Amino acid sequence: MTSVKRIGILTAGGDCPGLNAVIRAVVKSALRHDPPIQVTGILDGYAGLVENRTQSLTEGDVSGILVRGGTILGTSNRDNPFNYLPKGASKPVDRSKTALATLKRLKLDGLIAVGGDGTLRCALELERLGVPMIGVPKTIDNDLGGTDVTFGFDSALAVATDAVDRLHTTAESHHRVLICEVMGRYAGWIALYAGMAGGGDVILIPEIPYSIDTVCGSIRGREKRGRRFSIIVVAEGACPVGGGWTTQGKFKGADTRPWLGGISHHIAAEIEKRTGYEVRVVILGHLQRGGTPTPRDRWLATHFGVHALELAAQNRWGRMVNVRGTRFGDVPITDAVEQLHRIDPFGDDVRVAEAVGTSFGNPK
Ligand code: F6P
Repeated sequence: MTSVKRIGILTAGGDCPGLNAVIRAVVKSALRHDPPIQVTGILDGYAGLVENRTQSLTEGDVSGILVRGGTILGTSNRDNPFNYLPKGASKPVDRSKTALATLKRLKLDGLIAVGGDGTLRCALELERLGVPMIGVPKTIDNDLGGTDVTFGFDSALAVATDAVDRLHTTAESHHRVLICEVMGRYAGWIALYAGMAGGGDVILIPEIPYSIDTVCGSIRGREKRGRRFSIIVVAEGACPVGGGWTTQGKFKGADTRPWLGGISHHIAAEIEKRTGYEVRVVILGHLQRGGTPTPRDRWLATHFGVHALELAAQNRWGRMVNVRGTRFGDVPITDAVEQLHRIDPFGDDVRVAEAVGTSFGNPK
């Protein structure tokens, strides 16, 4: 019989569709566990731990949320108890002791952290201070190690693919080049999969530095074959050969990593200059994170949530739930962040895309 009576759950970092499905799965399976396990929601990610803002979760709280995007618990981007930026302050401070005090006051036996690399790195730091942790891999970027896929990715992919489909008809009518910029940080999964699914002519990803000459060459090549329009799908983290990321500065707050975005405007200017084509840019941005989860993400998130609860009930702390092929399981949380999951430039996806004529802009 389990000794676990009460667990906490938080959703941290950038939101994505499927977070509510995880929360629902954890709460419903916890209440059905024998004996039942109580679940406390920590509000607004790690900020709620520091600021002592929490809520007990009942069956009623999670009923009807399976299909809802976002997170009923709220999230805070890049708030971390070890590097916490109080309102109005200019420098982050270490508030981990306050976070530990909240956990003690709530009498939690452990905490489920649902998040991406920042959230799981923070989970590992809390674990080092003795907090029993379980990780659930979330991100539209699909860039976490230790799992084949994260929930949120499929929903973002659906939005991006729909956008590429729509851009096709208008690009074709106007004989234009349409550039669709998608998210993904340092991994090109959304760009690659949406580009392949939507029949993008050029796909630019962080894993394969591009040459603008090659990109313009494929546009001209299409023109020679009577195709007077082109669709380019570019990941926000793509870089030209020998160049760096295009950023909008740095994130604000405790996280000072580069804030990626805007590369499509540079590419558009170069293409117009070199080819004379009219170019239009669409940056999908947070549309990719909003709205209802796809059926696959609801299914994946439900598996992840139930498995996370089972791990907690079995006192198997320090694990992150995962999926490999069709098998659900778990790995040490460290696996998620030790090596990010990125596209193999020599792998099957790139080979297959090239086989149907897609260019990755690699220098010839
Ligand atoms: O990690 C998810 C993600 O959406 C990235 O793809 C993107 O670079 C970043 O978050 C955007 O962050 P913010 O929500 O702070 O704009």
